[in-house]
Amino acid sequence: MALPDLSRLVAEHRPRFRTATEFVEAALRQGILSGTLVGGTPLRQDELAAALGVSRMPLREALRQLEAKALVEFHPHRGAVVASITADDAADISAIRHALEPAALALSLPHLTAADFALADELIADMDAETDPGRMGELNRRFHMTLYARAGRPRLLALTEQHLAAADRYLRFQFAALEYQTRSQAEHRALLAACRAGDAETACAQVAGHIGQAEGLLTAFLGSRSGPSGPEGG
Ligand code: NI
Repeated sequence: MALPDLSRLVAEHRPRFRTATEFVEAALRQGILSGTLVGGTPLRQDELAAALGVSRMPLREALRQLEAKALVEFHPHRGAVVASITADDAADISAIRHALEPAALALSLPHLTAADFALADELIADMDAETDPGRMGELNRRFHMTLYARAGRPRLLALTEQHLAAADRYLRFQFAALEYQTRSQAEHRALLAACRAGDAETACAQVAGHIGQAEGLLTAFLGSRSGPSGPEGG
């Protein structure tokens, strides 16, 4: 897969940024989110440096930042490639989370302690303060697992954690692209309040809604994203 023409991205972004790293990060992010750079495209550093008119050091730094946002992946032999973010994969993970997380929560909720609630509060506060999407995914996972931890079903919890981790790249992407944080945090607070009140029915509905909201936002975004004729195409 060849690198597409990036001249328009360069012309749009170069004047807006002070440092080469900021410029490259913004231009590539826009290219990936708009679909100009499709999933699987190799990002060879010499080719990219020439196309963007920058040296390799800021390029490498920008690629690391994009990796933290789940927009770029590093493969041992192929180097950096554009991450494949597909609506089908997101929907698949989401279906599994829908099946597992309310079940884990229902089993865990009667056994949650004041210390569990305090930890969940702390994790919400940490997420409020966090700006790094990579850390955000990890905090989100810990928050959810704190609420499920007393289910007493180690296999169920292992599967749940595995699929929360699989959802992580989509969450990081959402935090970076969709300004998802405020909404997600409001849902986390409502979920925790229902758990504290011992209201299993509401809590399970909250967690199902939280998973569904995230998927809906992502599917809508990926669906509207440009193909050659899409709204943000070119
Ligand atoms: Ni969450």
